[in-house]
Amino acid sequence: MTTAAAPTTPSPGAAPHVAPKPRVVVLAGGLSHERDVSLRSGRRVAEALRGAGIEVTVHDVDSDLIPALTQARPDLVWPLLHGATGEDGSVRDVLEMLDLPYLGTDPRASRVAWSKPVAKTVVARAGLRTPDFVTLPQSLFRELGAGRVLEAIVQRLGLPLVVKPSRGGSALGVTLVRDAAELPRAMVDAFAYGDTALVERAVEGREMAVSVVQSPDGLRALPAVEVVTDGPYDYDARYNPGRTEYFAPARLDAATARAAADMALQAHRALGLRHLSRTDLVLTDDGVAHFLEVNVAPGMTETSLFPQAATAAGHDLGTLYRELVQLALRDAAATGV
Ligand SMILES: Nc1ncnc2c1ncn2[C@@H]1O[C@H](COP(=O)(O)OP(=O)(O)O)[C@@H](O)[C@H]1O
Ligand SMILES: [Mg+2]
Repeated sequence: MTTAAAPTTPSPGAAPHVAPKPRVVVLAGGLSHERDVSLRSGRRVAEALRGAGIEVTVHDVDSDLIPALTQARPDLVWPLLHGATGEDGSVRDVLEMLDLPYLGTDPRASRVAWSKPVAKTVVARAGLRTPDFVTLPQSLFRELGAGRVLEAIVQRLGLPLVVKPSRGGSALGVTLVRDAAELPRAMVDAFAYGDTALVERAVEGREMAVSVVQSPDGLRALPAVEVVTDGPYDYDARYNPGRTEYFAPARLDAATARAAADMALQAHRALGLRHLSRTDLVLTDDGVAHFLEVNVAPGMTETSLFPQAATAAGHDLGTLYRELVQLALRDAAATGV
């Protein structure tokens, strides 16, 4: 477990040197299913940072990346890659190998957060509520006989259920299953995105996303953003304007808003995340928050939840992103990474 402020507080007399005009490389694109979303996130963040006076270049994750980074030696890399190698820690591992400072969670904690069942287990141990679940690798599903396994799952967890890839994003491969007859199809859809499916109890309630940002004073939860859709909050509903209504801040009384904020802060701490994160949760009518997942590289597109939350809190996006850059630079200077 990490504390938010520890690495940001340099010892007296050893004030870290931070470049006055930092050069930042934003990584966007990559080969995940969320490539397009990442390109849009990268573009938005780069524009906002440039508006705030930071020198930014955007680079894809391709065979030119390592030579470009080793030649340019930017002051900071901001990986805005969603899904796969961007969130599973592996691109961050490469940045560490190259001794390049980057913004965000380290590879080890990214790996834990990226796996939904592992993250759920960690936050449950920290006392947070998360829907009961089972994970099912495709091979076991076949070996045991699909019908028998699904029957056991329905008996154990009941209906409705949500089936999703155990690692993934943007609601790709996610199905809400109300009838047992829909389960086989839902499993196939989840397996299209990875070899392990997560099957969990569906929580009936209001969907919220709570973003967390670190500052020199510690961790802060931004106002919850409430998501209301006319159907599933799927890929189309997320990235095509009109199908989803957002309430930023969410329509919550103070105690419930506190519960949602606390969940996101506790998840961020329990998982050892750094600089920023976004926790997705469902609030039931009794005011209880149920953890769904956490994102170490939350979307930053024009319809994304993190920038909406920041704006709702009164932040100018360019200024907030510049502050995050400065924080990451100070952390890097203090730890020598
Ligand atoms: N247990 C659940 N109960 C109700 N809705 C869920 C549940 N799990 C996922 N969902 C719905 O599916 C969406 C995607 O699930 P999530 O776990 O956040 O994965 P992703 O990484 O794809 O965003 C959520 O935004 C929510 O609308
Ligand atoms: Mg989500």
